[in-house]
Amino acid sequence: MHLPVLLEETIESLAIKPSGIYLDGTLGSAGHSKEILKGLNNGFLVGIDRDEAALGRAAENLKDFEGKFRLLHGNYGDCEDLVKQTGLNAFDGILLDIGVSSNQLDEAERGFSFMRSGPLDMRMDRTQTLSAKEVVNTYSQEELANVIFRFGEERASRRIASAIVRERAKSEISTTERLAELVDKTLGGRKGSKTHPATKTFQALRMEVNGELDALSNGLIGALNLLKPGGRLAVITFHSLEDRLVKNFFREHVGREVALQAGGSRWQGLTPRVNFINKKPITARAKELEENPRARSAKLRVVEMR
Ligand SMILES: C[S@@+](CC[C@H](N)C(=O)[O-])C[C@H]1O[C@@H](n2cnc3c(N)ncnc32)[C@H](O)[C@@H]1O
Repeated sequence: MHLPVLLEETIESLAIKPSGIYLDGTLGSAGHSKEILKGLNNGFLVGIDRDEAALGRAAENLKDFEGKFRLLHGNYGDCEDLVKQTGLNAFDGILLDIGVSSNQLDEAERGFSFMRSGPLDMRMDRTQTLSAKEVVNTYSQEELANVIFRFGEERASRRIASAIVRERAKSEISTTERLAELVDKTLGGRKGSKTHPATKTFQALRMEVNGELDALSNGLIGALNLLKPGGRLAVITFHSLEDRLVKNFFREHVGREVALQAGGSRWQGLTPRVNFINKKPITARAKELEENPRARSAKLRVVEMR
């Protein structure tokens, strides 16, 4: 079961209004959305997920709130376009809790996990054609190394890419197990490391297959365009690449006021659109960490529309 991370903190920082209109761009099993809906009176919630299986689970979880929400299949990177079908275009709060869900990781046949034997798939949206199998078996050695380095921040990216190219010449690499073993063998077991040697490679492939950083960049822009003045955007990330992107995006849109020598001040850079609700990211408390190890790397950042 997927436990929603930083649930209390997220709901609190979104400052839910009973008659507010909310958008959850990464609905998952609707753990966060259900809590938002509990706080609504005559408000409404729109939930987006790329994974049709998640939409099914969410609908089941939200059945007590029938009529108060609408679920949409799609990429939150296209949220401005997607929500047009609901007739809504101004929201009081938007949540992005990005990455994969425990449900996706736990289902071996989705191919997300190096701990489960399954097909090399990793597509969140099963209607898309690009899968991890295609990336692993058709990208050039250089392209593979770049993906593993950029999205996995893996220092041994070139060695891994070269091992993949040698291995796939024998026969197509089509399972998570074979890829995980190959990376493990290539890195010599990485003694002393707490994480599996294939962690970064799998993360990188997943991000490439699902275009995750592009979705995040576009989703952040789309979210600001959809927020009402005073509306809040809460983003939960799980690793440094994503957190950096969110941090820099928020900083850019908070703007910087510089003092002028002649007195007074002026804004530098972009016209400020948001204010920080929290300047430092919110992280999980000890109690949550005990119950949900996935919360270890979670960071919540929140801004409010000016
Ligand atoms: C971490 S889970 C969200 C869990 C959810 N907050 C809950 O409490 O159940 C992330 C979800 O977002 C979805 N997702 C990831 N990237 C997406 C994207 N670009 N567009 C739409 N959904 C996306 C995944 O399919 C997954 O179901």
